[in-house]
Amino acid sequence: MLTSARAVVAVLATTAMLGYLAQPVQAHSGHSHGKSLRSVAPRDLRIGTAVAGGGHHLEQPYPDPFTYDRPYRKVLAKEFSSASPENQMKWEFIHPERHRYNFGPADAIVKFARENGQAVRGHTLLWHSQNPAWLNEGTFTKAELRSILKNHIFTVVGRYKGKIHQWDVANEVFNENGEYRQENIFIRELGPGIVADAFRWAHQADPRAQLFLNDYGVEWPGGKVDAYEALARQLLAERVPLHGFASQAHLSMRYGAPDQLRGVLQRFDDLGLKTAITELDVRMDLPSGGVPTAEQLATQASYYKTVLDACLAVDDCNSFTIWGFTDKYSWVPVFFPAEGAATVMWDDFGKKPAYYVLRDTLAGARR
Ligand code: G3I
Repeated sequence: MLTSARAVVAVLATTAMLGYLAQPVQAHSGHSHGKSLRSVAPRDLRIGTAVAGGGHHLEQPYPDPFTYDRPYRKVLAKEFSSASPENQMKWEFIHPERHRYNFGPADAIVKFARENGQAVRGHTLLWHSQNPAWLNEGTFTKAELRSILKNHIFTVVGRYKGKIHQWDVANEVFNENGEYRQENIFIRELGPGIVADAFRWAHQADPRAQLFLNDYGVEWPGGKVDAYEALARQLLAERVPLHGFASQAHLSMRYGAPDQLRGVLQRFDDLGLKTAITELDVRMDLPSGGVPTAEQLATQASYYKTVLDACLAVDDCNSFTIWGFTDKYSWVPVFFPAEGAATVMWDDFGKKPAYYVLRDTLAGARR
């Protein structure tokens, strides 16, 4: 029942989208029929997804998705040319004890990516969240804390040297007002200058990796974007190896369309930086019964398209990643109980209008 209701809304939504969207989408839908996202994308644009595992998955009644879900792995390999470990390279996961690293799951993703011609986005090195208890609750001198961060960066970045396309070196370092987050233990204890050091160390450990600032809530201009622009200017002036600025793009249909994102990305492109979309998803309030309406699916697809169009319109936006491709494993319902359906595929990997709109837009892209 659910499946057929869903099929009907999907058709209605696709029809609504085609009416809603500009002509080129219709013109290209025939050519890309049956093809994957990665196969129709412009050659200079990586199409990525988060690789499900760790984090909220550990609390769910299923085994590790990346390791055990074969249909999931098949879609992952077919559709994407970039892979971002969702949790498997975060401190609490990869460095669970002070003198012990847990590289197995991250190694497996890097191996899979190489076997399938995929780039890897490393995520993340300097963040306030998902740090291990030994770090959060330990007592360290400033010198010890600094060497803990330095050793972590050299160890993790060094291990994957030459195999990581882009690293999210500094993740979510500012709050909404553009102030440094004091929850970040390294920034609080060592001061904001530690951000520059993290970039320097990552660059020494892997000189070819592109090093990024990454955050959510930067899809519209405001205090946070201003703070990132000021930080980027400062780091560049100090010749710190900063290469890019990324918008996570966790969107909710409770708020407006991301129609100013292109302008935000352009501000960083103008500084000579690369830009990227790193964690796109579009959540919505689910009607009782849990099936989105055709109109909701059409709006969702238009948000996805607006973000992709923004990236395509900016010269050095070379990486476009969605935060998971199936609702089956999305983080959204775990964090936002009333919301869901945020990804481009249903639980059974059936494709939503958002998937088709991305594919048609990629197929029609001229760059
Ligand atoms: O660590 C606690 C544990 O102490 C507690 O007992 C348990 C009880 O619920 O929760 C544990 O925290 C979990 C955490 O992962 C650490 O494993 C959270 O519940 C769980 O929801 C969390 O999920 C991850 C989340 O980051 C944490 O912030 C998600 O899997 C992951 O998709 C999400 O990804 C982040 C990006 O890295 C950065 N940008 C935002 C994005 C979405 O939040």
